[in-house]
Amino acid sequence: MKLPDKFFLAPMAEVTTPALRKTVSSFSPDIVMYSEMLSAGAIAARSPHNEPLVKRHEFDRNFIYQIVGCDPSVMADSCAILSGTECLSVDVNMGCSAPDIMKRGQGARLLSDPARARTIIKSCRKSCGTLLSVKMRSGFEKNDPERLVDFARMLEDEGVDFIALHPRYAKLSFTRNADWGLVKLLKEKLRIPVIGNGDITGPSDAVKKIETSGCDGVMIGREAVKSPWIFRLCRAVMDGENFTLDVDARDVFIKTLEHTAEFLPDRLHKSRAHRFCFYFSKNVKFSHELFRLIRAAERIDTIIGIVQDYYGRNPAEAALRFETRDGSIIKK
Ligand SMILES: Cc1cc2nc3c(=O)[nH]c(=O)nc-3n(C[C@H](O)[C@H](O)[C@H](O)COP(=O)(O)O)c2cc1C
Repeated sequence: MKLPDKFFLAPMAEVTTPALRKTVSSFSPDIVMYSEMLSAGAIAARSPHNEPLVKRHEFDRNFIYQIVGCDPSVMADSCAILSGTECLSVDVNMGCSAPDIMKRGQGARLLSDPARARTIIKSCRKSCGTLLSVKMRSGFEKNDPERLVDFARMLEDEGVDFIALHPRYAKLSFTRNADWGLVKLLKEKLRIPVIGNGDITGPSDAVKKIETSGCDGVMIGREAVKSPWIFRLCRAVMDGENFTLDVDARDVFIKTLEHTAEFLPDRLHKSRAHRFCFYFSKNVKFSHELFRLIRAAERIDTIIGIVQDYYGRNPAEAALRFETRDGSIIKK
């Protein structure tokens, strides 16, 4: 099985909104993008509340829906519904370590219950009319390479088409570095494609991690929210292309906020805009000050006003230039 691209935008709750996806795809239309994690129960119940998160847009080309849950028949029903949209894949979340998810036996908790994980994958495989994938951590309470390989082989044997591995065990938040040696190990032990994820800091790092781990692709989360253009630069570095990218950060900032208002209902504006701004503000010098003002704002038009005011006072910060030369990147 060949995946359509080597670059993946990670699923991030409240962050990989249609607004962010539209911005990312404006730089890199061919990469693979995930939805936010979606409750399998809400999808199976066809909850109208969920509709804005489930809706697929024209820019969602190589698109993966990620579902979270632990009831095999509910997971299977939601797979059937979502795979009917001709998405690239439906992905089962076995990586989320949020306490409210894990206490329900979902997300990364499934790593400690291989029998249930197997039943879920068996049911999903039967109902899923497209690729079926799993995004997982490297363990629950600790990293145990042998258990990791056994678990991943079980997924492979049950018909999972590819795995994205975030090589931190679930009880670690972001305190220690992701262990890319485990991505390499899994790639060596499995027949299906393995995507590596965790701590990618820039385009050269992404390409180096593909080379050193031998993985089939890389998934980028936080760094792609700060730099939605990162995948375009990854491609240029990978291809050894000599390329210059000029980005108007003010424009990207404001457009993404406008798309948030366009694609999502009012009740989601504040949480989604704040989450995006938390990461994207890091592009400016006085990011703490900027984000402090944004966090106090309730409405997207107020936030846009704050951003306009910031760049009005610091116009030189809007123009970003990146150059790739002979497989490395220079930021000007
Ligand atoms: C705000 C936030 C929300 C996340 N939500 C999800 C999620 O819904 N599903 C999931 O599988 N992983 C989720 N993750 C984990 C990311 O997909 C990714 O595995 C992690 O951030 C490591 O990649 P990075 O170092 O490139 O950010 C989330 C991470 C962050 C920071």
